[in-house]
Amino acid sequence: MCGIVGFTGSQQAAPILLDGLKKLEYRGYDSAGIAALCDSGIHMEKASGKIKNLDAKIDGGKALEGNCGIGHTRWATHGAPTDENAHPHLSNGGDFALVHNGIIENYAALREELIAKGVTFKSETDTEVVVQLLEQYYDGDLKAAVLKTVGRLEGAYALGILCAHEPGRVIAARQAAPLIVGVGVGENYFGSDVTAMVAHTKNFIYLEDGEIADLTPDKVTIYTDLGEEVEKPITRITWDVAAAEKGGYDHFMLKEIMEQPNAIKSTIEPRIQNGEIVLDDFHLTDEDLKQINKIMITACGSAFYAGSVGKYVIERLCRIPVEADLASELRYRDPLVDEHTLLVVVSQSGETADTIAAMKECKARGARILAIVNVVGSTIARLADDVIYTWAGPEIAVATTKGYTTQVAVMDMLAVYLARRLGRLDDAEYARLVDEIQQFPSLVQRAIDLNPNIQGLAKKYYNHNNIFFIGRNLDYAACMEGSLKLKEISYLHSEAYAAGELKHGTIALIEEDRPVIALACYEALFDKMMSNIKEVKARGAQVLAVVLEGNRQIFAEADDVIFIPKTEPMFNSLPEIIPLQLFAYYVARENGCDIDKPKNLAKSVTVE
Ligand code: M6R
Repeated sequence: MCGIVGFTGSQQAAPILLDGLKKLEYRGYDSAGIAALCDSGIHMEKASGKIKNLDAKIDGGKALEGNCGIGHTRWATHGAPTDENAHPHLSNGGDFALVHNGIIENYAALREELIAKGVTFKSETDTEVVVQLLEQYYDGDLKAAVLKTVGRLEGAYALGILCAHEPGRVIAARQAAPLIVGVGVGENYFGSDVTAMVAHTKNFIYLEDGEIADLTPDKVTIYTDLGEEVEKPITRITWDVAAAEKGGYDHFMLKEIMEQPNAIKSTIEPRIQNGEIVLDDFHLTDEDLKQINKIMITACGSAFYAGSVGKYVIERLCRIPVEADLASELRYRDPLVDEHTLLVVVSQSGETADTIAAMKECKARGARILAIVNVVGSTIARLADDVIYTWAGPEIAVATTKGYTTQVAVMDMLAVYLARRLGRLDDAEYARLVDEIQQFPSLVQRAIDLNPNIQGLAKKYYNHNNIFFIGRNLDYAACMEGSLKLKEISYLHSEAYAAGELKHGTIALIEEDRPVIALACYEALFDKMMSNIKEVKARGAQVLAVVLEGNRQIFAEADDVIFIPKTEPMFNSLPEIIPLQLFAYYVARENGCDIDKPKNLAKSVTVE
């Protein structure tokens, strides 16, 4: 987690760095800090809490002189979120300032070694050892000091380095944490994410693990951890700064919910040509396909729930065993994976540490890796054999919405594509399913339009402490995502249960007035769901039901009803999550929560 930025040029650095940090605040918001270099040396300011505290302290950056500098927004791992533990960290002699995203695993041994040499530490962070090492190794050759320092580090890091003796120069180093160089004219940048730099440039260099970037206003030099210079391609991005701004909405989350029809359109439209699904980016030959006898899907959080939708749909259509496994579990469970396994990795950021580890584990066992990723050039995209990008555009709110629905849309499309190639779908059925997929953008728009009263429902339910979600089959997969949305932004306790499991224990928690959100969109199991709804009603629950448009039966049991538009039943997960996203949003709003930056969370979970 954490976000880092760096700048060198002829403008004042601190306002540019501050602006970049604001774009990265989704990565962590426990504290923030900036160090800038001017004629009198390194000047630094830090503040615990959100970036607005730092902003106030440095008058929007104007109070910090200097034309090059580094900045950091923190999601605390080692040490509480205090001013002392905030980055940048300074070396004892004041020669170096450093920002870091990641975890230095061998920091304790390095710290002892440095203390024995007389170094004193001011923070409890793992990071501070790095800046002290730099000062120890520096003898006038910055590159040599950086190489020696990174050679001592174990773990994950994206580093930003400023040296008091090297005006106009900033260094960035990457190992298992995202880091991108922004190439400008007479000024250059680095950052954890392109959103931090896109206001200034559209040209980027994606660093690989072990690479180091040496930036001056007119030059970017990339070298390996052995000090050898490497030529790197420059990637030009196509979206602009407006895509990463709120555009009149109160919150990024609401803006991103409303963007879903377009995000899904961008994801599926280019991939359906003359009635055929064309996945140019998935280079699976017929011979490869014959070799696959199992599909595994792995991911974390909402991406895992999108994968759970994929499990139901792919298995049903392709008749191949499909497992969906949390990446944090898969990586340690000695999985039965080999060259006959297709591993589908799902990630919005493409940087989630557990997902990357699970992917590497399966790759080492011979699996073929297909990644479904939103961020172009991210680690997961680069490690995979094939990539299907979800063209959702930048997602800023910590709680994913368009990231998730574009993943689900790709899962549905992938299921139909694979089933067709496996000969499981005749022409008519294939054409019907492709046509349904083409309707996804309007389906999702209708799911938004059908529910103007979600805010009213949120006002009714927001002050309950425990809310249950129940559903069966694909409705259950949507329950898990709906429940996660609610808990992560509104802080209400909420659980999702497969409705058939209720009587095996959970029903003990149902009591007078307990809200139960019952998803009963899957018509084949509607009667079963009605029985479950009756069971919880009999115990006093208030039921908010989500059903297909036109369903009248539900009024006999439910206290409140949300309708979703009809589609092919296998694709219900897409429209049914929309009202649940809106419900979570408005409940969080009623509760006065910081919707875009929920407490304790970060957008991109780059630590284990
Ligand atoms: O970037 P990823 O899709 O790999 O992230 C996975 C999870 O961390 C993410 O979905 C998380 O659960 C979100 N906060 C959900 O809104």
